[in-house]
Amino acid sequence: QYPLPIPPIKTTTTTWTNSSTGAVIDFYEISIQSFQQQIYPNLPKTNLIGYDGMSPGPTFEMQKGIEAVVRFSNNSPRETSVHVHGQYSRSPFDGWAADTSEPGQYKDYYYPNGQSARTLWYHDHAEFITAENAYDGEIGFYIINDSEEGSFGLPSGNYDIPLALSSKQYDNNGQLVFNTNDNTGLWGDIIHVNGQPWPYLRVEPRKYRLRLLDASVSRTYVLYFETDNESDISFNVVASDGGFLTHPVETSTLSLAMGERYEIVFDFSSFSGKNVTLKNTLGVGQNIDYAATDKVMQFVVGNSVSSNNNNGNLPSTLRAVPFPPNKIEADKDFVFARVGDEWKINGVGFADVNARILTKPPRGAVEIWNLQNGAGDGVHPVHIHLIDFEILARNGDNGTVLPYEAAGLKDVVYLGPGQSVQVIARYAPWDGVYMFHCHNLVHEDHDMLVGFNVTSLAK
Ligand code: C2O
Ligand code: CU
Repeated sequence: QYPLPIPPIKTTTTTWTNSSTGAVIDFYEISIQSFQQQIYPNLPKTNLIGYDGMSPGPTFEMQKGIEAVVRFSNNSPRETSVHVHGQYSRSPFDGWAADTSEPGQYKDYYYPNGQSARTLWYHDHAEFITAENAYDGEIGFYIINDSEEGSFGLPSGNYDIPLALSSKQYDNNGQLVFNTNDNTGLWGDIIHVNGQPWPYLRVEPRKYRLRLLDASVSRTYVLYFETDNESDISFNVVASDGGFLTHPVETSTLSLAMGERYEIVFDFSSFSGKNVTLKNTLGVGQNIDYAATDKVMQFVVGNSVSSNNNNGNLPSTLRAVPFPPNKIEADKDFVFARVGDEWKINGVGFADVNARILTKPPRGAVEIWNLQNGAGDGVHPVHIHLIDFEILARNGDNGTVLPYEAAGLKDVVYLGPGQSVQVIARYAPWDGVYMFHCHNLVHEDHDMLVGFNVTSLAK
């Protein structure tokens, strides 16, 4: 067992100041490149590709209202396209799958960072090879902070830990196995956190803020905490994809699908001197399980607390979440289904270049999209770029909206076999062409990825 790696915070190359307005733009540079990492002590090093040669890449820590430009230089052997998942980027900087940088090229991406505090992440989005690029390591955290969150008194600094879950499989030479099981998915037989299989983290017996991200290619999780003699341990969910919830939601299990983020506050104070294991429920969704896929990581709880800063009770309410107003436009139906060896949305995939823009919401329109799981019975965590949505309903087999899903805004929603999900959003603030797709990256590459065009022109 190895300690949990915590990605370093990315620092700016320079800051540009507009001499007349005083506005600043932070400039960052990242190199996408191959690297090797010793994952198994008795096997050769694993070949990976990552941002600044690490995976997860360095964490961006952005302040709301400070714009940024990031130069991503592709020094890797493959095409890349970088998407900051959850950022309301302008269309040319959103990582459109066909807008790839070749090896040796770079692209400057502009990010407005105007949204409220939230945990975003960045990852590759290149057409047909997103799964391989992300599996090999092209993922990282991108955090927006704002001044409002300070008033919540949440654990911060060393007590605020990002946890990116992924599941992978290795061959006898220590190299990653990329097997998509007839395009159904790549589940992996060992779960990693921040790139390390089943790591441990030494913690103090106090509250922690844990930022959970499912960065897996295909694996969905139902997480819970366990000690030697206790397994129904409750914690509070405080934020999801779209930032803080209306109020902390207490639960003892957390469903986490690809692309989703939840921030939880976990109190280790009653576990001094014990080990608390983060576990995964077997047999959920369409996952293929293996002997060790019930284990995620371990928290080794010490006996003393070095700081009681932000260790108090959580506020009973957090913020007024800006849920979309009542709908003013018609419902739209999108069916996510298998067609032969491929996966499509309303029968269309990204390779259908003349048909792949499925809908044109007028800018500012509030629309309900009805997402339906059709043929093939896959699990499809559906991600819509640009906007945050509210989940109105989940119908069909075992359909229910979980309390922590309902208490905030999301940009990914779990669509299980036999289910339909209704989501409402305001299609704004920018015009432009954006993607929506399944976040099972194998499905996305084969070819469950389409576009929508927000436009202020007449329909
Ligand atoms: Cu997390 Cu379109 O991606
Ligand atoms: Cu899917």
